[in-house]
Amino acid sequence: MTNFPDHFLFGASSSAFQIEGAWDEDGKGKTVADHNAFKRSHLQADSKVASDFYHRYQEDIALMKELGIKVYRFSISWARIIPGGDGDINQKGIDFYNKVIDCLIKHDIMPMVTLYHFDLPYALVEKYNGWEARACIYAFERYAKVCFEAFGDRVKYWQVHNEQNLMIRVDERMNITETDPWKADKIRAQMDYHMFLAHALAVNACHDLVIDGKVGPAVSSTCTYPSTNKPEDVWAAKLNDWFKTNYCLDIHFTGEYPGYYMRYLQERDIVPTMEDGDQALLKSAKMDYIAVNYYRTLSASYLPVDADHPIGSRAFRTNQVDFDQYGYFKDDKNSHLEASEYGAQIDPMGLRIVLNEYYQRYRLPMIVTENGLGAGDVLTEDKKVHDDYRIDYIRDHIKACALAIEDGVELFGYSPWAVMDILSSHQGFKKRYGFIYIDRDDHNLKQLERIKKDSFFWYQQVIKSNGADL
Ligand code: BG6
Repeated sequence: MTNFPDHFLFGASSSAFQIEGAWDEDGKGKTVADHNAFKRSHLQADSKVASDFYHRYQEDIALMKELGIKVYRFSISWARIIPGGDGDINQKGIDFYNKVIDCLIKHDIMPMVTLYHFDLPYALVEKYNGWEARACIYAFERYAKVCFEAFGDRVKYWQVHNEQNLMIRVDERMNITETDPWKADKIRAQMDYHMFLAHALAVNACHDLVIDGKVGPAVSSTCTYPSTNKPEDVWAAKLNDWFKTNYCLDIHFTGEYPGYYMRYLQERDIVPTMEDGDQALLKSAKMDYIAVNYYRTLSASYLPVDADHPIGSRAFRTNQVDFDQYGYFKDDKNSHLEASEYGAQIDPMGLRIVLNEYYQRYRLPMIVTENGLGAGDVLTEDKKVHDDYRIDYIRDHIKACALAIEDGVELFGYSPWAVMDILSSHQGFKKRYGFIYIDRDDHNLKQLERIKKDSFFWYQQVIKSNGADL
């Protein structure tokens, strides 16, 4: 039997471009996420309608109430609030999120907000290639302040960037179109640096403007196992974790680039341009908690350099999230783990490891804000979705959370991905994550009917029993 503290927050999550739709309604500007989705819209669904939350939020929040969630983690679309990124404020955008927040509170669901989930206003890309320009930092700070002032009386838990550490690895999300690998890495390093500064400004603004506000990073977390016990593979596994996740948390929490990361930037000759006062700003931002997004673990071995591949250069794959890096690491398959139909290596023990590791390093409370299984669910003729594979996945990860709490980790919530089917980043509506099925296909919207999956009823019971009945 699992035990959770009395006020443990069982919840569910989503993000703006993946559920809202209404991509250009009521003044909203286009975003980088829209831009990327439109490029692939001949192949799969795009963000124009998504799950149509914008028009059906009342029905959806009523379903959340029925599910019993205590917290709903969602994101605000910057381009709905400030369509041009740094220009006029769009009152209709503020009105929409006010209605959503009020409706959640009316249903006793705590709103938890991410400011930026992969959807930079496209106008800023056109103006100065987004995060490449220092100006983007201040545009973001202004947007963050508008949100804190508009919603901070009711929203107390904030996350700044969703998965900066993952976003920065995917050129499409950052709008890095440079094809020369070294130049692309240089732009990436500068963008990453600007995002750290923007993060720090937003953290400080939250503390200034939101009474009792709590703010933290939402990190894409994993842990990497060495593929063998050869010391260089053990080192490669550590580097894989440090380069893909830990460097990001370390910079947030210490205000300094860790030595191994600075060494890489120097070796590769891509140290970002920094200004006086930046480090003091980074150090001044004090975070209150960590939001952990966790799906899978990795396995790595050492990847030697050769004549064509200098130290630190990336070996690109179609999925750039898991790039290999010469002289550092190469991602391998783990023969001990099953993979989902989309290749994620399922590993509940990895979640226990991650939670323990972060807690020991940073000593801050944590909440799991994403965890879930993407699958091609089947809707039966009698309108049921028998997603027992999802139930198994979530059950095992909830057990891992309970064990982490027993280990002493201060975990205050578990909010899986996703409350309803969302537009998946790369597989449209073929890959589903929700407790609620959205009846649409990639190219046929049908009625967008909401259908409760088997996992909905199961999770409802889990929440009712505060995690005891799994
Ligand atoms: C997380 C993102 O990294 O992974 C979500 O925060 C995303 O936005 C989720 O949906 C699953 O990834 P995908 O590619 O299957 O949608």
